[in-house]
Amino acid sequence: MSVYFLGGGNMTSAIVAGMSKQGSYDIVVIDRNLEKREHLSRCYQVRSSDKLPELTATDVLVLAVKPQDMQQATTGIKINGALVLSIAAGLTVDILRQFLNNHQRIIRIMPNTPCQIGLGISGLFAPANIDAADKAIAENIMRTTGDVIWLEEESGINRIAGISGSGPAYVFYFLNALQQAGIQLGFTAQQAHQLSLGTFKGAVALAEQSGLDFSQLQKNVTSKGGTTFAATAVFDQHQLTQVVLDGVAASIVRAEQMQQQLTP
Ligand SMILES: NC(=O)c1ccc[n+]([C@@H]2O[C@H](COP(=O)([O-])OP(=O)(O)OC[C@H]3O[C@@H](n4cnc5c(N)ncnc54)[C@H](OP(=O)(O)O)[C@@H]3O)[C@@H](O)[C@H]2O)c1
Repeated sequence: MSVYFLGGGNMTSAIVAGMSKQGSYDIVVIDRNLEKREHLSRCYQVRSSDKLPELTATDVLVLAVKPQDMQQATTGIKINGALVLSIAAGLTVDILRQFLNNHQRIIRIMPNTPCQIGLGISGLFAPANIDAADKAIAENIMRTTGDVIWLEEESGINRIAGISGSGPAYVFYFLNALQQAGIQLGFTAQQAHQLSLGTFKGAVALAEQSGLDFSQLQKNVTSKGGTTFAATAVFDQHQLTQVVLDGVAASIVRAEQMQQQLTP
């Protein structure tokens, strides 16, 4: 099966990294920048071109340019019934149909950057007209990059973007804050980096292996009146959970605003 990527940037690179390991896909990346094409061909042995060829119904086209570039990038392309997977934020199936001459075979996907190392999590949404075979194609592609969740409603794409799409940045934010605390306490930057990362890795692995709720895991390491309790009491005082909820809500509001702006 030939899978064409329109746009050869960060997210295409992340997905192609997973797919190319799997070995069963003929991958072609279309990008206007020669360096990006050469980089992807060199790293993942994929074919590349500056122009999308005429497609056939057995091909898959992944739309992976920035949302604001999509209309221009898709003008005049010959889809001929190919399955279209769009990873673009803010472009609904309806908007994409307008760009693609009322093409109906469209599935939306919201991936995240850990796809690059096979630990991504992607939300997928298929409108009612999409059959099980097309859903399986999309799911199999994204499973080469990590886990997948099917969304019942298209609005779930904006909501999942606020959790897992932007989520890696939230985790890096907290990692950085913990590293800064370590540096303030006199550790070297390298030691603080090691401490911050090691703590996250250990805690995530523990959460995964134990299968316990996060709140229970937190309780298990927080004895009343102890040192961890003193720290989390300050987090509570600053309403850290509410801060996270507000951040996620802001991300979703922004996604909805972008969606409105992108509606032709
Ligand atoms: N990054 C994330 O974490 C993330 C997560 C989920 C979804 N997404 C979605 O993934 C999509 C791609 O994001 P990205 O971060 O990978 O963007 P990116 O790094 O900017 O990659 C897009 C690439 O497409 C090229 N391009 C634009 N118009 C083109 C055209 N007409 N023909 C050929 N190539 C063209 C761009 O070239 P120029 O550099 O010259 O513009 C760029 O190389 C976006 O729609 C975004 O919403 C991203």
